Amino acid sequence: MSPYAYERPAFALTIVAISPRIRRTVRSLSVNIDHIATLRQARRESFPDPVHAAAAVELGGADGVTVHLRQDRRHINDRDVELLRQTLKTELTVEMAASDEMVRFMTRVRPDQVTLVPEVKTEVTTTSGIDLVKGGRALSASIRRLKRAGIRVSLFIDPTPAQVEAAGDLGADVVELNTDRYSRGWAKDAALLDELTRAAEAAGTAGVLVHVGHGLDYRNVVPVLEKKIAAGYSIGFAIVARAVFSGLAPAVAEMKRIMEVHS
Ligand code: PXP
Repeated sequence: MSPYAYERPAFALTIVAISPRIRRTVRSLSVNIDHIATLRQARRESFPDPVHAAAAVELGGADGVTVHLRQDRRHINDRDVELLRQTLKTELTVEMAASDEMVRFMTRVRPDQVTLVPEVKTEVTTTSGIDLVKGGRALSASIRRLKRAGIRVSLFIDPTPAQVEAAGDLGADVVELNTDRYSRGWAKDAALLDELTRAAEAAGTAGVLVHVGHGLDYRNVVPVLEKKIAAGYSIGFAIVARAVFSGLAPAVAEMKRIMEVHS
């Protein structure tokens, strides 16, 4: 099933079919495998190979694979992206800064989705969303070029209705709401979930699909699923960390199981 066909078929005559959740939404999971490449680069080795990791991720039932091609190529490199494009059976998402070099490369490789993120050289990982209210216009040309190449464009933003509306005005297909603050504070501060909910509610009128990502794990993802905030989930670190003990395919399968149960 395409990860963008969210509705369950209504015809399955099973126990599920007579439950009131028959038409519940199936949420898609794209697994970020940057951390596999980080491990490879720690020894400047040829393994572990993110291309092999992607196959395991697909075996575990993921709907897609995400990589962040950084300008400094600190983990994922051009070869990884090109091979992933050729070998993935599910969707490829590339996170990147909206630089001319990156846009040119993507219009050649043509991943299914590009997620534009702000990139700071000194950061360990992406920390905040792009401020579209202040600086969105600077992205217009990149968004147009990517869309003309048939690539779905997602913008990684902090979760406010104003940022979601600005993404709609720019012609984005998807917004990825930054769950960093939520993931750090969710257990103590219920307002952080409300913040995500309010931002997601603005997506309908803005005409964009909602994804979420950053810092999500096997526990904090549950309230987000139950609130039905997003159609797509971009999760990396928690899954790869669990994979150290359980293996990658089972770690992905467990996340998919949680998504299924709580959808
Ligand atoms: N979404 C974006 C835009 C990211 O930059 C990252 C981290 O690479 C993720 C999702 C995944 O975050 P995590 O690895 O914390 O699950």
